[in-house]
Amino acid sequence: MALRMIRQMGDEVLTKRCREVKEVTPRIKELIDDMLETMYEANGVGLAAPQVGVLKRLVVIDVGEGPIVLINPRVIATRGEQTGDEGCLSLPGKAGVVTRSAYVKIEAWDENMERFELEGEELLARAFEHEIEHLDGHMYVEKVEGPLHDVTYEEEEEGEEIE
Ligand code: NI
Repeated sequence: MALRMIRQMGDEVLTKRCREVKEVTPRIKELIDDMLETMYEANGVGLAAPQVGVLKRLVVIDVGEGPIVLINPRVIATRGEQTGDEGCLSLPGKAGVVTRSAYVKIEAWDENMERFELEGEELLARAFEHEIEHLDGHMYVEKVEGPLHDVTYEEEEEGEEIE
């Protein structure tokens, strides 16, 4: 496993549409391991492959309930709304208010290329939408309500959401 460099907003790779993963090769497995390690090291709750410069439809998430690996994820149902602070590892030190779905159901494929569905509420619902948008070249700042604000170290310690 190795840490990968997290691409910062302004890097063109974050604006591209990612390609589907057709097969989980040893290289893809290594990428997944590296993405998890990179996310944990940066204290994030989610990371999408384009954030480490790889244009593949691959996401890792951990909202404190263990790692979730999503291959070719897609939102298949949403319900309700939640409005709250959101950040991104590709724009460190900043956060802004974004309205997301309160409930999100996704479909994705696991490392054995078996399809599964997963439901999320609160932070997990937010992470699903945030990370899947990365795969189509979108950042949360496009949806932010009002100005971005600086995230202080104390807030991060309290668990500011950084995706
Ligand atoms: Ni992000």
